[in-house]
Amino acid sequence: MERRGSVYVTRLLPAPIMERLREICDYEVNAEPRPATREELLRGVRGRDAVLCLLNDRIDAEVYDAAGPQCRLFANYGVGYNNIDVPEAHRRGVWITNTPDVLNDATADIAWALLFATARRVAEGDRLMRSETFSWQPEFMLGMDITGRTLGVIGAGRIGRNFARKSRGFDMKVLYAGRRPSPEFEAETGGRFVPMDELLRESDFVSLHVPLTPETRHLIGERELGLMKRTAILINTSRGPVVDEGALVRALESRTIWGAGLDVFENEPDTAPGLSALDNVVMTPHVGSATVETRVNMGLVAVANIAAALEGREPPNLVRA
Ligand code: GLV
Repeated sequence: MERRGSVYVTRLLPAPIMERLREICDYEVNAEPRPATREELLRGVRGRDAVLCLLNDRIDAEVYDAAGPQCRLFANYGVGYNNIDVPEAHRRGVWITNTPDVLNDATADIAWALLFATARRVAEGDRLMRSETFSWQPEFMLGMDITGRTLGVIGAGRIGRNFARKSRGFDMKVLYAGRRPSPEFEAETGGRFVPMDELLRESDFVSLHVPLTPETRHLIGERELGLMKRTAILINTSRGPVVDEGALVRALESRTIWGAGLDVFENEPDTAPGLSALDNVVMTPHVGSATVETRVNMGLVAVANIAAALEGREPPNLVRA
């Protein structure tokens, strides 16, 4: 009988993904309710033809060595791949894939959820309702208008574009900044390309949609927060280290900006000292793609990449950078 490919899966994924995987290969999975430890990862990948990994698995030269030269692919369950040493993989002829597109809506939606929650103080109101009573007053829990305001989108890729397009229902003026102007972004959103400093100065809401790279680490720090309006809100659903979280805490404490909505953190799962004591921040635990449908679809994309690699075909979602 023909040998089936052997795959290591670093964390149990939703059932439809495991079922699909069973159809195409033999696999071993870390079934613990926590990420694989480094030792488990190094042991688990040994002798495999492909590995299905998560964004909290650090994939580097030591892991490629442990896997062995027959290992063709590391398929990341997620669109971001800053957990993976891609240049080292390419030097060795190892394929890296991610799961783009299927999570655009879910991730853009969580950015909107955070924008609304922060602007209209939803989480603060929820906490108040559970702990005390209130009496309606003209200046009680005032938030910020959203309709008709200026939305600044940093990063004009698939998720940034999706997020910006959804602002149409709120008649917002869209500014965007990135490495270069994007005709697609402009066609879909009516957005105007501006230098980042101008975007920071002009926007009422600034939302981050860039990948984490050496260039984007601390893209938003003390200087950039200082350029923003005192009434502005920062939204981050990209990667935590894109923002200097210590500087953000200081900016929120001193009301240099009005608020922040964060789904990602610099040192997950921890948050910077002082952040959780602030009422003008709304936080969610890195759940950008966490919907029932999206998490299944991400897995099916990862499995399609594995199936291709096991057949010796180039996987559809190759990371080329
Ligand atoms: C989630 O953060 C992802 O990169 O898909």
